[in-house]
Amino acid sequence: MNLTIIGTGYVGLVTGTCFAEMGHHVTCVDVDARKVAQLRQGKSPIFEPGLDDFLKRNIAQKRLSFSTSLADACDSGEVFFIAVGTPPDQDGSADLQHVLEVARQLGEHLKSDAIVVDKSTVPVGTARMVQETIEHHLQHRGADHRVVVVSNPEFLKEGAAINDFMKPDRIIIGTEDAHARERLAELYAPFNRNHQRLLFMGTRDAEMTKYAANAMLATKISFMNEVAHLCEALGVDVENVRLGIGSDERIGYHFIYPGCGYGGSCFPKDVRALCHMARDQGIEPGILDAVERRNQAQKERLAQKIIARYGEDLSALTFALWGLAFKPGTDDLREAPSRTLLEHLIARGARIQAYDPVAMEAAREHFPKEWFDRRHLMLAEHQYAALEGVDALILVTEWKPFRHPDLGAMARLMRQRVVFDGRNQYDPHQMRAAGFYYDAIGRSS
Ligand code: UGA
Repeated sequence: MNLTIIGTGYVGLVTGTCFAEMGHHVTCVDVDARKVAQLRQGKSPIFEPGLDDFLKRNIAQKRLSFSTSLADACDSGEVFFIAVGTPPDQDGSADLQHVLEVARQLGEHLKSDAIVVDKSTVPVGTARMVQETIEHHLQHRGADHRVVVVSNPEFLKEGAAINDFMKPDRIIIGTEDAHARERLAELYAPFNRNHQRLLFMGTRDAEMTKYAANAMLATKISFMNEVAHLCEALGVDVENVRLGIGSDERIGYHFIYPGCGYGGSCFPKDVRALCHMARDQGIEPGILDAVERRNQAQKERLAQKIIARYGEDLSALTFALWGLAFKPGTDDLREAPSRTLLEHLIARGARIQAYDPVAMEAAREHFPKEWFDRRHLMLAEHQYAALEGVDALILVTEWKPFRHPDLGAMARLMRQRVVFDGRNQYDPHQMRAAGFYYDAIGRSS
């Protein structure tokens, strides 16, 4: 099939590249000319394991191309995927301006009947709005092409995006149209092996499913973070509790790891957008509000622990920070707990020597310049260089190289043997036996 993917962010780029890998002809369109130029050379603007190989191979085999012109792509496309951003508006609702702009352009440029697929995470009712916008512009120029808008949300995780796309748990196809249903079933057939992964439903059901999935996962995390806080107060080890409850299949081990808060471009934004949708319907989103509040509080936990130990004035102290990305496997700093922590520490005069296996460049770009200029934040060459002369180590992202550190080397390099662990990576007994003060999440120090 000839596929057009509009938007080359995480979702769009992975979708386009994986469909090309499956043998389709894919054009990815983006308004950002610099990004398109870079992509044409096979260079991914995001860090995602496996993506570069897929990109290069499919470009070389002429199945994958990039363009800045949606009008040109309309000449040959049959299925158009909308994968542009839906950033949060000031009030937390999803901002649909990019999605609707794409709809307008499709209405103006489509040359034949088309299936338009919403891949972006969009509020319930958006497929309808997209459909109306396209039809309005088609009518305006007297075109009578038949367009069907389908909701097909994406469930990929950063850092595992290729695998999630190639081996999905489920493929949600929201449409009431029999032809669109048939075409998309055909398109996804190679991903639908071994057992039935295709789930057909209405467009509104599909839109809601995406939000409900992310909100449920965020709820599990916030619930566990609250339990962890309680564990700390009661002298209970949350790691034992996690194992104890996770073994119940109805609860499961996934997404019950307490930590220093969830971040990224999805959970925070989607929980807030769902709260907004609820309020629009006159419903008080009690649970979702609490999920968001707990997460905000959780992002403060490490700073609170540090202030509790050292007081408000941190100007005489240097900290090592291991991990900046919002989770391992990505260089994404959006809504990362590291940022909240840095803001607190730097506001109190601390100096920080940070190391992240891949997010250093992103940090240089996204963190305030004055943090670097005033030497509050320094980026270290490697994880042990970050430890030189520090008063404490703070672990924020559980990258694999941080999981089994050389405690002897740590003790030699650090001025004080103090570790604040935001991801419960170490054994408290082992740490204390090695002479470390060790404070983690939900494990009494
Ligand atoms: C999330 C969902 O997991 C995907 O299914 C979804 O497709 C995606 O959002 C999206 O809507 O696009 P992602 O944001 O890449 O994926 O990251 P996750 O692996 O879900 O982690 C999110 C955050 O939760 C991270 O900050 C992580 O550290 C935190 N987390 C996760 C915990 O604090 N505890 C856990 O037990 C699990």
